[in-house]
Amino acid sequence: MRFQYRTLAKAVRRRTASSISPPPQPPLVLPRYFAHLSSQSTEKRRPPPRRNFGIAFDIDGVIFRSESPIGGSPQALKRLYDEDSGAIWIPYVFLTNGGGFRESIRALELSTLLGINVSPLQVLQGHTPFKNLVQRLENELVVAVGKGEPAAVMSEYGFKNVVSIDEYASCFPGIDPLAPYKSWEVKQAVFVVSDSIDWSRDIQVLCDILRTGGLPGMEIGHQPQLYFAHDDLAYKAAFPSERFGLGAFRIALESIFNRIHHDPLSYTCYGKPNPFVFKNAEAVLKQLVSSCPDSGLAPNNASTAVHNFERLYMVGDNPDVDIKGARQAGYPWFSILTRTGVFKGTGNHDKFPAD
Ligand code: G3P
Ligand code: MG
Repeated sequence: MRFQYRTLAKAVRRRTASSISPPPQPPLVLPRYFAHLSSQSTEKRRPPPRRNFGIAFDIDGVIFRSESPIGGSPQALKRLYDEDSGAIWIPYVFLTNGGGFRESIRALELSTLLGINVSPLQVLQGHTPFKNLVQRLENELVVAVGKGEPAAVMSEYGFKNVVSIDEYASCFPGIDPLAPYKSWEVKQAVFVVSDSIDWSRDIQVLCDILRTGGLPGMEIGHQPQLYFAHDDLAYKAAFPSERFGLGAFRIALESIFNRIHHDPLSYTCYGKPNPFVFKNAEAVLKQLVSSCPDSGLAPNNASTAVHNFERLYMVGDNPDVDIKGARQAGYPWFSILTRTGVFKGTGNHDKFPAD
């Protein structure tokens, strides 16, 4: 049993040492993007940019269906840049509930697929707000669940003791209670970073962790904190009808957990429609504008950016998530609902109509 503990400890160390291999350098960033906006080269082609509005684009069902761009999305996005300098003309971000990869990696992927320069700052994923929990859980053992590289995502956010659920599960080959762990005090948390690719295994292991306070095989009861990157029931991928999302996995886990445990599952969901996500997107858009040399604002510092937008557009395909979120966030958010993804109605949505 000691051996298993050592295996787990080794997995955590390995993660800390190796998972944060520097990603390929994405194009950086804002001052350069904006560098030419104010001067002659742009004035002859377009009037000076109006920076009283910004845009947040959902990805799945708006920009892409799986990896295929929808309609003319690459061409439309190119129009947000100055043709000559490649500088960003209109401040915009990608506001997606998807994820599983580091923002820097995703920025690079988007840049390649769309033929534009996307900065990591412009990529706001469902799990991006997890970085705000680092202060609280920095040195705790945290288990990262989901497709992609969930443990590397969490390590990059600053969590020091991260183990993926694959590594975690591999340390528990049997169902034997783990007596040596009695002295191992774990106050751990679980982060579901992206879609589980093995629901059966993950639900089993998560129930073990969550029921026992992180000591599978024991009955010590206190439920570790549980965070989901988002709660989308379904989303639009390549298949003609919607696919189950993280919200469906949450329902399955919760239903089973609540059948086997005396206290109901306690958890927090980030991602849209959580109003925090829209506040954060607004702050990032301000930061994008503040990086512009002619903005008159302090560069690259959201906290000092006093720029106020008259309007921020949320362009999404999911009324329950994108439109509900923008409506809840209120001014200056303005919602635009596309018919390219989850929503297929001919009119507006009944419950969460777009602006
Ligand atoms: O798993 C991703 C999906 O739930 C939503 O992605 O870009 O539509 O917010 P998006
Ligand atoms: Mg979508």
